[in-house]
Amino acid sequence: MYVCLCNGTRDRELREAANNGIRCARKAYASLGTRPRCGRCLDLAQEILDEAHEIANDADATCAA
Ligand code: FES
Repeated sequence: MYVCLCNGTRDRELREAANNGIRCARKAYASLGTRPRCGRCLDLAQEILDEAHEIANDADATCAA
């Protein structure tokens, strides 16, 4: 799904950025070689990053148990 229409950024790309340790939407965009334009996508982009990190942390907790 497209998250950012201005840059054509997809949720999959943001999850990959999260997997590379990026936690901030603006830094994720920078890692993709873009930057926010209108900014309407930033809240959703941040939610996707946060969710990806929560899932990774849950997976780590499961592996540690
Ligand atoms: S929709 Fe992402 S900057 Fe406009």
